[in-house]
Formats: sequence, structure tokens, C-alpha cells
Amino acid sequence: MEGKLKAYIESKLHLIQAEITKHFHQIDIPENLKKSMLYSLEAGGKRLRPILMLASFEAYSSQVEKIFSSAVALEMIHTYSLIHDDLPAMDDDDFRRGLPTNHRAFDEATAILAGDALLTYSFEIITNDPLLTDKEKVWIVQLLSRASGPSGMVAGQLLDMEAENKQVSLEQLERIHKLKTGELLRFAVTAGAYLGNATKEQITHLEKFSYYLGLIFQVQDDILDVMGDTAKLGKTVGSDESNNKSTYPKLLGLEGAIAKKKHYTEQAKELLKQANADTSRLSELTDYVSQRDH
Ligand code: IPE
Ligand code: IPE
Ligand code: MG
Ligand code: MG
Ligand code: MG
Repeated sequence: MEGKLKAYIESKLHLIQAEITKHFHQIDIPENLKKSMLYSLEAGGKRLRPILMLASFEAYSSQVEKIFSSAVALEMIHTYSLIHDDLPAMDDDDFRRGLPTNHRAFDEATAILAGDALLTYSFEIITNDPLLTDKEKVWIVQLLSRASGPSGMVAGQLLDMEAENKQVSLEQLERIHKLKTGELLRFAVTAGAYLGNATKEQITHLEKFSYYLGLIFQVQDDILDVMGDTAKLGKTVGSDESNNKSTYPKLLGLEGAIAKKKHYTEQAKELLKQANADTSRLSELTDYVSQRDH
């Protein structure tokens, strides 16, 4: 990763961590539930979704405090989706963010409840934020619940399970990836722009961009499951193969998946140019998402 982008990401990681600490500092949660929630939340994910949200916001405005609560709420929902994704009933994985998965470190019941708690607490955090107007709160909650719910991430997770042990078309695979991964990324990009006071037109361009960003992100996730390094990834390589998942490398071969990702990256960058703002950071982050090794 280029030095400037690395420094940018590192500076944001501190802000995100401070916001997490703020919301977990003095709340009355049963001790073991709090431990389990923070175990996964602070295990060292890339924080890509809040960082994208900040980058999108900063293309239009500079008062970043305004999006901290939504950015952390998004990371909490993403973390919940990972905890549940790893459960024995789903992908049955033992390793996540460089640590034993939540249900391995605690137990299945606690892991399920930690996921539930991260999901619901995220909405409490947004609605309690004094820096947001009521109108903004409603808009954010509506968009985030849609992105993570039965027409968003949860739908994608169900379709992903149904596509195990099956041959699906490229069109079906794009739909699965758009839903299970793309919707939360779409929220990151569009909500960032919205809170930064971007115009409707600008948001629409970014929304189209985020569609490709979501695909790039999940295609690279599929590629890393084949040719990544477990230690670097912090999760077990080969999980898709052992679950007989439908993935890009499975459908198109490794070369085909890489070519498709390149095509999506070109599309994404083309759309960014039309957003009528300084989107250079989003463009750098697109390359990072496409070329990341973890
Ligand atoms: C992994 O997401 C799950 C997918 C949606 C593919 P990330 O690769 O962003 O995981 P973390 O947050 O860095 O752990
Ligand atoms: C799941 O995709 C994405 C979500 C958790 C919504 P994967 O199952 O491919 O994610 P990883 O590879 O386990 O991180
Ligand atoms: Mg999965
Ligand atoms: Mg998985
Ligand atoms: Mg994966």
C-alpha cells in the first residue's frame, strides 16, 4: 500500500477505536456479553467500512465528528455478520481476525447473543447521537437497516448458503455478492456522502460506484480464500472449498476472477470521475480493496 494511504488509514483507525471505547466505557452490559462483543469488535479488522465512510464524507465536508456514530455502528453490524457467518450452522470457521472465532473463544449461545447485541446496539448508538438531526437519524437508520436486513446482507447470506454444492450463473453470483457484501459498502459510501451534504445527484453517482466496489471487494475475498496466506488473512484459507461455496474462482477460474475484478475496477473508477468532487481518496481505496492481501 502506498505510504500516504497507509498514514491516512492509520489516523482513522485511532478515531474509530476512540469512538468504540466511548460507547463501551460505561454501559451496563452483563460482563461476559460485553467481553464477547469487544473480543470480536477489537480483534483487529481492517475497519474498511468506517474508513470508506469517512473518505466519502470528506469528499464533501470536513466536520468528521458527525459521522463517528454511524461509522462505528456500521463496523458493529459488520462484526456481528462475521460472528454469525463463522458459526457451525453457517461457514463453520475456527479463525477470524487473527484469533479463534467468537463461538470457539466463548460458546455458541454467547456468540449468537454477542452478534444480536452488536446489531441492536448499533441503532441505539445512532439514535442517541446529539450531533445528528432527527431527520438525519431517520435517514441513516432506514438506510442501514435496509442494507443489513432481509433485502440486504441477510438475504445475501441466505442465497450464499443455498448456492453451496450448486452451479450458479455469473448473474446469480453477482447478485449474491452484491447483497452479502455490497450492501454494507454501499451504505458506507452513500451515508458518508449524505452526512457530508452531497447533492442527490452526487450521491447517485457514488451509489453506482459502490456497486462495483462491493463486487471488487468480494471477488478479492474469494481469490484470497484460494491463494491467500492464513497468517496474513487472520482467517483460514480454503474455507470456501471445504464448504463447496459458489465463488468467482470456482465459476471463472483464478485468471477469470482476476480479469473480472480488473473490469469491475475500471468501471468503479470511471463512475468516481463523474461524482463531481475530490474522490481521489476513494479511488486509492478502490485499488487497495482490489489488491489487498488480507
Ligand atoms: C470479511 O470482511 C467479510 C466479507 C464481507 C467478505 P473484511 O475483509 O472487511 O473483514 P475485516 O473487517 O477486515 O475482519
Ligand atoms: C460473508 O462472506 C460476508 C458476510 C459476513 C456478510 P464470506 O463467508 O466469504 O466471508 P469470510 O470469507 O468468511 O470473511
Ligand atoms: Mg459466508
Ligand atoms: Mg465465511
Ligand atoms: Mg470469504
